[in-house]
Amino acid sequence: MDKIPTHVAIIMDGNGRWAGERGLARSHGHRQGVKRAEEIINAASRMGVKVLTLFAFSTENWSRPKREVGMLMRLLYNFLAGRAEKLQNRNIRFRMIGRKENLPRYLSDKLENFQAKTAGNTGMTVVLAFNYGGRQEIMDAAGKYALDVLKNGAVSSGLDEERFGGYLYTSGIPDPDLLIRTSGEMRLSNFMLWQLSYCELYFTKTFWPDFGAKEFEKALKSYALRQRRFGSL
Ligand code: FPP
Repeated sequence: MDKIPTHVAIIMDGNGRWAGERGLARSHGHRQGVKRAEEIINAASRMGVKVLTLFAFSTENWSRPKREVGMLMRLLYNFLAGRAEKLQNRNIRFRMIGRKENLPRYLSDKLENFQAKTAGNTGMTVVLAFNYGGRQEIMDAAGKYALDVLKNGAVSSGLDEERFGGYLYTSGIPDPDLLIRTSGEMRLSNFMLWQLSYCELYFTKTFWPDFGAKEFEKALKSYALRQRRFGSL
């Protein structure tokens, strides 16, 4: 493939429906989803993708039953605890975007710790969007900017997109080139609203637990055929 996207972002959707179709508990779908995430991390890194962002928990997901929320938190913790070495060996850098404040301490510590541990790695960056909301991110950035102006005398004139981008959670990370959403839903669900402005979108009916390396390659092939004009001719 001659045109590999630098940054691929994925809304991993359909774990619950995948499980439901099989008469299984939703937790089975999520566990299968983690396996798929691992497969896609490996495939993306093999194919030369530089940044892979995975949307694992939105600020709206708190409204799910307490048991499911707790399960998703533990799943992420176990993922980080169990796969740390593998990701290290693959030279992968890990970064979390989202609000750490309301997360249980055991998880926010783990996230912090894992981010620091892999900070020096030079391979693909895996960005995990957890307790993430796009509007919240933009509001947080506006707040940080205002504080910077008030406290540090940051210049308020001449604010451009690049400078503002520096206040976002994704500071230093290039915008996604390709967004994949699984399970047939065709919406953004408050995901990377600022960063997706010029992104190519790819929707598939496949549920996330069935989205393997082959499907990922198919999405990248579709991307390679697109003509991006960024508003120009
Ligand atoms: C969507 O399925 C998925 C989520 C809410 C996020 C959870 C994602 C995983 C467990 C996979 C990757 C995890 C890690 C830690 C890398 P859904 O529950 O919205 O499905 P539904 O729309 O069919 O109900």
